Amino acid sequence: MLFDPATLRPLPITPAVSGVLETLSFLRDPDFARSRFERYGDVYGTTLLGQRTVFIRGEKAISDLFAQGDAVEGWWPESVRKLLGPLSLANRNGVDHKARRRVVGQLFASSALKRYSPAIVALVDELSGELLGGASPVALVPKLRRFAFSVIASTVLGLDPVDREALFVDFETWCQGLFSLPFALPGSPYAQALQARQRLLQRLGAVLKKAQSAAAAGAPLAAGGLDLLAGGLDEAGLPLGDDDVAEQLLLLLFAGYETTASSLSCLLLSLLQHPAELAWLQQELDGLPWPPAPGEAVTAFEASRAPRLDAALKEVMRLTPPVGGFFRRTREPIALAGVLVPADRVVQVSIAASHRYGSGSEDLEVFRPQRHLAVERTVTLLPYGGGERVCLGKALAELEIRLLAVGLLKQLSVELEPDQDLTLSLIPSPSPKQGLLVRPCRR
Ligand code: HEM
Repeated sequence: MLFDPATLRPLPITPAVSGVLETLSFLRDPDFARSRFERYGDVYGTTLLGQRTVFIRGEKAISDLFAQGDAVEGWWPESVRKLLGPLSLANRNGVDHKARRRVVGQLFASSALKRYSPAIVALVDELSGELLGGASPVALVPKLRRFAFSVIASTVLGLDPVDREALFVDFETWCQGLFSLPFALPGSPYAQALQARQRLLQRLGAVLKKAQSAAAAGAPLAAGGLDLLAGGLDEAGLPLGDDDVAEQLLLLLFAGYETTASSLSCLLLSLLQHPAELAWLQQELDGLPWPPAPGEAVTAFEASRAPRLDAALKEVMRLTPPVGGFFRRTREPIALAGVLVPADRVVQVSIAASHRYGSGSEDLEVFRPQRHLAVERTVTLLPYGGGERVCLGKALAELEIRLLAVGLLKQLSVELEPDQDLTLSLIPSPSPKQGLLVRPCRR
């Protein structure tokens, strides 16, 4: 403990007794965290289903949390922890966690992204063709979900369309169980998800074996990135077992699918709801190539070459972050923004509330991508988290979102179908409830 507790303010606590009412409001009220921040300040405690939880928002409290080192550890709700599995790097800490991050991180190095990019460009063109050739109006959300899944399954895992489809079905069942109550009553979403987990691990194990035999037989590089994991070592310097690697792959499917699908849906929704900003972005897209020149896909649409696209993406991530919050557990007392947080508390970092908080907070409710081009940017932006557990797949996510935005908006003109409900469901990630009906035509 590197502070004098006497100099700190005590943790403000909401008047929750059992936590049942607080939990119900947490699940039902999208403004749960924000209204309490306004009442209790940037760091406050409450009880959610018996779990003592501390909510935090704002740069100061969050950067203090990232600076805590071993005084805090990763934490996930029970249902997520069990479905990810004991070997998953998301459920590990310290040297175990670092060793697996090093191995898995190789899948997202710039040379790996370069290798994946032709497959992503092909998937964008496939989706554009499907939207132009299919029925109209069409619901965009399921198409974008399928696209996001195909990107990870074909880039990282190198799966062909048939294997991809088989994996997708089990994976959707597994996802349904993630944020359900962790009681494995027969037939419940959680019990079905646990069964799907076994089948997924078997399939992922088989995919891994296939990649290993191909590499041993000296076959040319596979489309995916699994060969990059060969030689990966654990914290003791020993090779990672296949069951260990399979659990890391399951984590990548989970971490990279729902999040990216959400940001794609919210990007298109926000642009379609703001025609002036869409026209402003189109001016920039008109000067960009599609498809990008061979070998240049990774850099063709980065911030320096496509600043308006970058600003639009930042604004979507600010207002509708795919991950609204993430967790840590305190192993010892810590100080966050001058408040003493006791040991053994779950800390929930509220990304969504932090993104709409600061000076000029009324303007922070407005979709205005241009704010990110201003020389002095003052908004907090943390869509990928931070510190030792910052998102491992950020570079892949950014690449696929940029490629899809440019490829789709250059080839298609899209109109919103009138009279539809465009409100967002927020769990597990923001997504238009009714699927975002649009009428696409060729540009
Ligand atoms: C727009 C898309 C995405 C967003 C907004 C996002 C956001 C996040 C956030 C907020 C965290 C938690 C960070 C923390 O605990 O400090 C995280 C963790 C993680 N993300 Fe992402 N993510 C995205 C896409 C991806 C993709 C495409 C992959 C890989 C295919 C990925 C892999 C991971 C992994 C493995 C972790 C766990 C890191 C750890 O515990 O060390 N993410 N992500």
